[in-house]
Amino acid sequence: MQDILQALEAKRARARLGGGEKRIAAQHAKGKLTARERLELLFDEGSFEEWDMFVEHRCVDFGMQDNKIPGDGVVTGYGMINGRLAFAFSQDFTVFGGALSEAHAEKICKVMDQAMKVGAPVIGLNDSGGARIQEGVASLGGYADVFQRNVMASGVVPQISMIMGPCAGGAVYSPAMTDFIFMVKDSSYMFVTGPEVVKTVTHEEVTAEELGGATTHNSRSGVADLSFENDVEALLMLRRFFNYLPLSNREKAPCRPSGDPATRLDHSLDTLVPENPNKPYDIKELILKVVDDGDFFELQPDFELQPDYAKNIVTGFGRMEGQTVGIVANQPLVLAGCLDIKSSIKAARFVRFCDAFNIPVVTFVDVPGFMPGTSQEYGGIIKHGAKLLYAYAECTVPKITVITRKAYGGAYDVMASKHLRGDVNFAWPNAEIAVMGAKGAVEIIFREDKKDPAKLAEREAEYKARFANPFVAGARGFIDDVIQPHETRKRICRSLSMLKDKKLENPWRKHGNIPL
Ligand code: HXC
Repeated sequence: MQDILQALEAKRARARLGGGEKRIAAQHAKGKLTARERLELLFDEGSFEEWDMFVEHRCVDFGMQDNKIPGDGVVTGYGMINGRLAFAFSQDFTVFGGALSEAHAEKICKVMDQAMKVGAPVIGLNDSGGARIQEGVASLGGYADVFQRNVMASGVVPQISMIMGPCAGGAVYSPAMTDFIFMVKDSSYMFVTGPEVVKTVTHEEVTAEELGGATTHNSRSGVADLSFENDVEALLMLRRFFNYLPLSNREKAPCRPSGDPATRLDHSLDTLVPENPNKPYDIKELILKVVDDGDFFELQPDFELQPDYAKNIVTGFGRMEGQTVGIVANQPLVLAGCLDIKSSIKAARFVRFCDAFNIPVVTFVDVPGFMPGTSQEYGGIIKHGAKLLYAYAECTVPKITVITRKAYGGAYDVMASKHLRGDVNFAWPNAEIAVMGAKGAVEIIFREDKKDPAKLAEREAEYKARFANPFVAGARGFIDDVIQPHETRKRICRSLSMLKDKKLENPWRKHGNIPL
């Protein structure tokens, strides 16, 4: 028996060594942790249960029959994150560059299938050169098996991808179908094909960082939701992020009671919005003052000095009376908070995640409209803006909306208006709910007065007095109440409490056809 136990331990030790000490040292030299070190940090101490440590690939081409490493380049299993169950796979770059073989794919599929059965999130720690070249179509098949499961799991259990190395080909398409993609700065890359192939095909010379580094995907392409300084920060932040999410669509997000009173008033909010309607202010100040303990987990936030992706809309998670809420807010500091292609896509995806996972949506509105111009029209703002409209209209979780200043035109409709089944719609007293701003409006409807500035100014003042307030909408019941800014938290908390057992179902259908 002793021999058998020793043989088992030797086998385990072989698996734990992955691609060998030299490759582990190379991994560390790049500032990266190994697949197992990452799992140790991600899960509560001692809680990770590994599966399939002895799985080997079945490839016999290119001498691969003599090159087998137990585990085959991916560590899979389940464990606890702050006491809550999660499944994970962590790719081992020291074994064939973390490339995906048929057997490697089967291991990932096994944890995904189990996660679906028990209703728990799947976390992928991705560090992979894509399909294992030696395996040919078998590895492509393996990827497709993973993709299929990504799609089946979408909206059933949360799926989070952490990109922790150079990920190419299939290694980016599976994350692309998960709910959130996080990256590690300076050591993670995502591209369909790497710089060398790019050079051959398009004759572009581009570094891996420029082509698919964290900066590129957080500030230009919008593929990633967030990036972190290093592996350790990334995994600790992932643990924090996990606390906001429910385990599956069958559950509500966990409640994390705080000492922050639901009735807390914040009088500084009464002067947040400047007197001059064209002056910007930071909507994040409002968010931080409204959520429990000022704790807000923002997605796609300010990213160094780079032009960040769709900063004109803010999305992220906070808590109100301990319950997770998704927050969507126009940001007047950037492009006056108008809706454009990128911000519509960013917010639509976020609203759909919240809706799929029973997370109420709180929307702060200060929007002058959709961004005009040829670049937006040629880029398809009609179709992309419709994504956000569709997402809000389809959404059945509690929806609370607060108009802090402007709610103009189509953007008024889109931003969780009463007409899109907003449950509770508030406006601050200075809100302007109208088809457009006063100046633009009078220039159109009183075109004949354009040559007479005094007359036009009179018309503008008349329009402002008549429409630039929340009471016209209030008179029709489109606004449930006009509230004082300082009582915003109290009124939202009360509304969420009233809505906690809300039930609303959309008519049966195979699926809708969101404008993609
Ligand atoms: C087999 C691979 C591999 C792969 C890397 N390796 N990628 N082995 N299949 N796809 C191996 C290398 O041979 C090497 O082995 C080790 O991993 C480390 O690779 P390096 O190149 O030395 O590392 P680095 O310089 O950091 O470059 C990493 C990389 C590069 C950017 C990922 O290796 C690369 O470009 N790989 C190919 C990427 C790719 O084109 N994949 C196929 C995509 S097609 P040794 O023994 O030397 O340690 C695809 C189709 C899916 O995925 C379908 C999607 C729809």
